[in-house]
Amino acid sequence: MVLRTCRPADLEQVGALLAARGDPPDAEDQRLVVEDPDTGFDATAVVVDGDRVVSTATLLPETVRVADVVVPAGQVELVATDPGHEGRGLVRALMGWAHERSRARGDLLQVMIGIPYFYRLFGYEYAVDIPPARPVRDLPLPVPGLRRATPADLPALARLQDAAQAGADVAMPHPAARLRWLVAHEATTTWVLERDGAVAGSVRVPEPDDDLLAAEPTAVDAAAAEALLASPLGGATVLDLRRLRRAARRAMAVRGEDAAVRGAPLATVLADATLLDALPEHLARPAARVARVLSA
Ligand SMILES: CC(C)(COP(=O)(O)OP(=O)(O)OC[C@H]1O[C@@H](n2cnc3c(N)ncnc32)[C@H](O)[C@@H]1OP(=O)(O)O)[C@@H](O)C(=O)NCCC(=O)NCCS
Repeated sequence: MVLRTCRPADLEQVGALLAARGDPPDAEDQRLVVEDPDTGFDATAVVVDGDRVVSTATLLPETVRVADVVVPAGQVELVATDPGHEGRGLVRALMGWAHERSRARGDLLQVMIGIPYFYRLFGYEYAVDIPPARPVRDLPLPVPGLRRATPADLPALARLQDAAQAGADVAMPHPAARLRWLVAHEATTTWVLERDGAVAGSVRVPEPDDDLLAAEPTAVDAAAAEALLASPLGGATVLDLRRLRRAARRAMAVRGEDAAVRGAPLATVLADATLLDALPEHLARPAARVARVLSA
């Protein structure tokens, strides 16, 4: 068996292995990653047994911001071994490849979102809790200004994410290549809210046959947050919004935060999972439907 970087001719087999062992959309994710000019085919390694791909892993480029220091990082994803080849150390070898490649390009840390316990075997430790997923009951219907994101929205999406993460001590702003495939892939849909010709808010949701949840919501200001909350995605009525705004102000005051300093309470609720968790469940429901914040 040989461990080597992925070649275009391997794509079909890598995709089939990922789809069989994980989720079918993983195949498209891997293809989008290697076909992106910033990442390329070197991002994926395979183990081949003769001409069969029997194990694979992909090293993504990431960045982690700690206060105002931006640290280059690696993230291993899209890991799978053919059932007939499990337990022979193939993934251990691929993790070694990934860590070495990451070190060589200057990454200072590794981030991992994966099977609980498994990655401890390769030196990872728990660092940041991910807030529980918040379900969305219905996908958005067409409302004025709410539409699917296109590649032309990428700069606006990056700006919105930066603004949403600005208040966090530790954040993971997506590199351009990552944002590109998140917008391009079919596993999730990025929705944007357009107002006066500019993108004023965004949220990413999986496709309908998955569990519905909303990720990485952003809004530039109170009005944009309100429009997202009142859209069919949030389902809030005017009265719900008023109650939610009041509850958010109270929760912020309890935490010693000045709403005027942190910005509008409704925009803060969307960007701050801990604030959302501090609100009574029945009041937070519309925001919970819109918000699942991955502010790692
Ligand atoms: C999990 C998976 C990737 C392991 O691949 P593998 O090639 O069999 O792994 P290795 O043989 O390199 O094992 C590496 C280590 O993990 C351990 N391990 C393997 N499978 C494990 C499991 N299911 N639970 C706990 N530990 C496991 C091995 O004991 C080994 O530890 P050791 O080196 O200290 O002895 C493979 O079973 C798979 O493809 N599963 C389905 C897809 C998946 O879950 N991917 C990961 C998504 S985050």
